[in-house]
Amino acid sequence: MILEIKDLHVEAEGKEIVKGLSLTVKGGEQHVLMGPNGSGKTTLAKAIMGHPLLKVTHGDILVDGESIKGMKPNERAKCGLFLEFQSPTEIEGLGFMNFLNTARGSAGNTKPFKEFMAEVKERSEKLKMKEDLIGRSLNYGFSGGEKKKVEILQMAVLKPKIAILDEPDSGLDIDAVKLVAENVNELQRETKLGLLIITHYSRILNYMQPKVIHIMQDGRIVREGGKELIDEIERSGYGLG
Ligand SMILES: Nc1ncnc2c1ncn2[C@@H]1O[C@H](COP(=O)(O)OP(=O)(O)OP(=O)(O)O)[C@@H](O)[C@H]1O
Ligand SMILES: [Mg+2]
Repeated sequence: MILEIKDLHVEAEGKEIVKGLSLTVKGGEQHVLMGPNGSGKTTLAKAIMGHPLLKVTHGDILVDGESIKGMKPNERAKCGLFLEFQSPTEIEGLGFMNFLNTARGSAGNTKPFKEFMAEVKERSEKLKMKEDLIGRSLNYGFSGGEKKKVEILQMAVLKPKIAILDEPDSGLDIDAVKLVAENVNELQRETKLGLLIITHYSRILNYMQPKVIHIMQDGRIVREGGKELIDEIERSGYGLG
């Protein structure tokens, strides 16, 4: 699958946040998006998923050459797109398994429930998640790291074609960063997943093989390059003083 962002402009509450951004992610590729706080990374990610409060004023989002601009978020998920939220929402009373089962249903996964449950269990063990988590309400009272792992678990069982991970490393301890990266890599090997990873830190990239690092500033991509860009940013920041 190919995700193409073409000269995208996005507004929130009448204010332009993404200001003409182009980016292409193909199945099997790893892309990294970095940039200062407030540069528009999360807004871009949410716009790709069709967040109802964001307005695309110009440009297009294409999946395999077809515009998805008119599609609702669940239709985009059905197309094979997935977003790991930067700050997952706690939903008291919505059982995690219940949620996951509905999500896989709308993604077209018709495996028998028992098999699906077994897969969820296996993936959660690989992510070293506490056993009781999947029996609890979605994200309710989960620790910061647990919430992020749960997002990766969702991705692993929903098997999207292109996934945007919004700071998958935030709040994770050193061992968990490595574990999450390894799980993401494994899933990518199995499913030819295309990845757009948003991060502030180079640590997770020690375990990944990004094809391109894109640097976003004030709603636009201002630089692109290989891993050498990361060393430069680690040394001197984004040059904003
Ligand atoms: N609904 C909204 N109304 C007004 N401003 C918004 C809205 N959503 C986002 N913004 C603003 O858009 C800018 C970009 O926000 P965004 O969350 O995309 O940044 P980011 O690059 O993900 O930052 P971070 O690295 O801190 O996660 C911020 O200044 C934010 O306050
Ligand atoms: Mg963000």
